[in-house]
Amino acid sequence: MKKWTKAFAVLVFTMLIVSVSALGAPETWVVGFSQIGAESEWRNANTFSVQHAIGEEPSLLLVFSDAQQKQENQIKALRSFIARKVDVIAFTALVETGYGPVLEEAKKAGIPVIMIDRDVAPEDRHLRLTIMGSDFVEEGRKAANWLGDFLKEKGLDDGEKQINIVELQGTVGSAPAIERKEGFEEVMNVKHPNWKIVRSQTGNFTRSEGKAVMEAFLKAEKNIDVLYAHNDDMAIGAIQAIQEAGLKPGVDIIIIGVDAVKGAFAEILAGRMNCTVECSPLLGPQLVQAIFDLRDGETLPERIYTIEGIFDQTNAAEAFPTRQY
Ligand code: AHR
Repeated sequence: MKKWTKAFAVLVFTMLIVSVSALGAPETWVVGFSQIGAESEWRNANTFSVQHAIGEEPSLLLVFSDAQQKQENQIKALRSFIARKVDVIAFTALVETGYGPVLEEAKKAGIPVIMIDRDVAPEDRHLRLTIMGSDFVEEGRKAANWLGDFLKEKGLDDGEKQINIVELQGTVGSAPAIERKEGFEEVMNVKHPNWKIVRSQTGNFTRSEGKAVMEAFLKAEKNIDVLYAHNDDMAIGAIQAIQEAGLKPGVDIIIIGVDAVKGAFAEILAGRMNCTVECSPLLGPQLVQAIFDLRDGETLPERIYTIEGIFDQTNAAEAFPTRQY
């Protein structure tokens, strides 16, 4: 009898231990991440941030896919995540349109989709759960407002004489290219009727294309006052083209980029670039937090913004040592 009581006590104790540890250990979630490629310094920092933040969490398992700038690769990756029944999909859309059907499939399979950095088109936004990242329209506004203040301070804009701007756009159809243009033009049209975008072409967010397109701009336009590049990589490529044309970047042509990568800081500190609007790629920790909230049954906000600054010759030297990307 005594023997049975002891065995029963051992059994109850073991069950208690098992259930307590089951309660304490979070469920492992598989995260499928479809990244667009490795076109810029920014993109590499973004990939690293996500891989590192998820890699640090024992209860998360990352399935990573690099689309190498091809939308069809992204669609294939999303379908493979659905077939594998991942718990959540993190997704950066190369361009805004064309993902409706695959997002419908994810929704039908009950897999939540968190957009990071680049969103899909407005008509498909009901198919994803949330978007985290920068406000690209606001970045465009910041670039134009910075230019307005700079020209005024230097006495370079009397409000009458035409200011000739060339624009290096990002990947055609992508959210940052559409919205950075929109924000810049909004400020320009409302406050600066004498500014004119005399040339505007895509440089696909890469240094090499930024350089090639700037070479063409310089051949076609004699009086370029300002270059507005939708990212720093294109601005840095353009700087080379400007130097090779015998002009002084940052002096003969005012240069504005977006991202605030270390390469842009180096150019600003050397006086070859004037300003970069920050767009933070360090979204990994925010993504992990959103996944944990989701796993805990919380409702995510429709949009999760990052807080960002703007850097020029007045504050770049001070900020440079603490930059992480
Ligand atoms: O989507 C963010 C943009 O994509 C960054 O500005 C650019 O550098 C990147 O390639």
